[in-house]
Amino acid sequence: MEKIVILDFGSQTTALIGRRIRDLGVYSEIIPGDSDMAAVDLRGVKGLIFSGSPESVYANGAKADPSVYTCGLPLLGICYGLQRMTIDQGGEVAPLPTREFGPVPVTLTLEEASGEPPEAAAAFFAAFFAAISVPASDSLPPSLFPPTEANPDRTFTAWMSHGDTLTRLAPGFVQCGTSGSGYPAIVYHREKPWFGFQFHPEATHCEYGNALLGAFVFGVCGAQGGWSMENYLAELREEIRLKAGNKTVLLLISGGVDSSVTAALLLKSLPAEAVHLMYVDTGLMRKNETEEVEAALKKLGAKHLHIIRAEDAFLAALAGKEQPEEKRAIIGDLFITIQEREVARLGLPPDYLLAQGTLYTDLIESGKGVGNKAHVIKSHHNVASPLVAALRREGRIIEPLEKLYKDEARALGRLVSLDETIIGRHPFPGPGLAVRILGAVTKEKCAILREADALYIGELRARGLYDQIWQAFAVLLPVRSVGVAGDERRYGSVLTLRAVTSADGMTADVFPFPPEDLLEIAALITNTIHDIGRVTYDISSKPPATIEWE
Ligand code: XMP
Repeated sequence: MEKIVILDFGSQTTALIGRRIRDLGVYSEIIPGDSDMAAVDLRGVKGLIFSGSPESVYANGAKADPSVYTCGLPLLGICYGLQRMTIDQGGEVAPLPTREFGPVPVTLTLEEASGEPPEAAAAFFAAFFAAISVPASDSLPPSLFPPTEANPDRTFTAWMSHGDTLTRLAPGFVQCGTSGSGYPAIVYHREKPWFGFQFHPEATHCEYGNALLGAFVFGVCGAQGGWSMENYLAELREEIRLKAGNKTVLLLISGGVDSSVTAALLLKSLPAEAVHLMYVDTGLMRKNETEEVEAALKKLGAKHLHIIRAEDAFLAALAGKEQPEEKRAIIGDLFITIQEREVARLGLPPDYLLAQGTLYTDLIESGKGVGNKAHVIKSHHNVASPLVAALRREGRIIEPLEKLYKDEARALGRLVSLDETIIGRHPFPGPGLAVRILGAVTKEKCAILREADALYIGELRARGLYDQIWQAFAVLLPVRSVGVAGDERRYGSVLTLRAVTSADGMTADVFPFPPEDLLEIAALITNTIHDIGRVTYDISSKPPATIEWE
């Protein structure tokens, strides 16, 4: 299978690069930036992309294996990736007096790049101009991107985030794009199929971002495209069958999209007899969640569905605990303890396999697999538990979604006939309502939040807003505030409504809530749920905030 491999140097947007390439119809994979290339399976690899990094090439910036430069594959350096390539090839990089950040104009200066561009650069620009519908021309440069009335300067708005710049190109490189402040923005190599962007084409706000990535992937790497979820599903089913053989597979269902899709996929790939689904109701679930999941899985033909009611155990373990990471650890550990106890009770064969709905982004955010340079943001318990680690060492884990992004997992769910109500559901964290009740968790608080959340989500659905939002939920704050109800003063809880748009949860923008709807929903909540005296709307994007509050 053809693919593009991304060397991850730790940028928060590395996953987005992978995402964009797949959107172009080419399979992509992310590996650590310093991977030993001799150990990487290069079959089908059409090109390598160097990601950005939060580090400087002079400080702790990771190095690439030198053989990336001799393996003969086309290379594209993005931001730090370009600086890495420049230093490695004998150029210079130095700090900028002022950081270039956010939207920055980039002007194509092709005609100033001396002589006819080499074959790879010609192919790159031909593909780029074709993608942005500029009429083709025989003569390169400068007529391919002719100045027009609308764009006399042949400039587009790129998205940048860098504190260092190229001060001397490495030998053989040519500058063909310049930033508004006069720094190199696009370079190519005269003899080799090597390119560099100082900006981030993967960022949503980068004009022509997809066209620029596509120009590299199709024009330079010669990828054919056509990668689709249907093909991938067929491969996954085969892989699952091979890996499972005659063994029993146990899947822990959380009620969220990911594990439900995994369940549907297992049921489509293996005999129903071999698939055990276990759902632990922690008491930290959304309203009616258990019943909905149960119904959807039965519809898919699940034969062994084990629902464990463990609310009391979870609430007892969480009593008085206020620290977010402690709460997460308690929930994760108890989850595993209960699972082990229940698995023993089920009497599954000792060589059973454990399936999980881990996504690509879970691995990246936990600082485990691919993003070993990315900082650990939150511990996702499905990745970090000791039991999972032990089973992983023994090769007894099946994670069919581990290469997929959230919306790809949803697309897969549709292909395996999972109920739309489950597929369309907003993501829900493993620790559930416990990370949405700030501070200590109690049964009463869970009940209040569950009602408020259900009311909020019900209204979003009724108003046609739900599907415009990546994730919406209510958060119960550990503060009380004064209000009046009738003639009485009351000292009620404060509830915050959160609604964000996002492509994959790695970054998120505040959903621009229609003000009328927001006011009506807030009023409905305070009128219906006695304990809540005040409602606020969270207007923080990610970064700097995270989506969840804890
Ligand atoms: P944050 O809050 O880190 O969340 O911006 C990013 C996405 O991940 C979800 N999330 C979790 N999912 N276990 C999970 O399975 C967790 O511990 C966890 N913490 C956050 C969050 O809901 C959002 O979709």
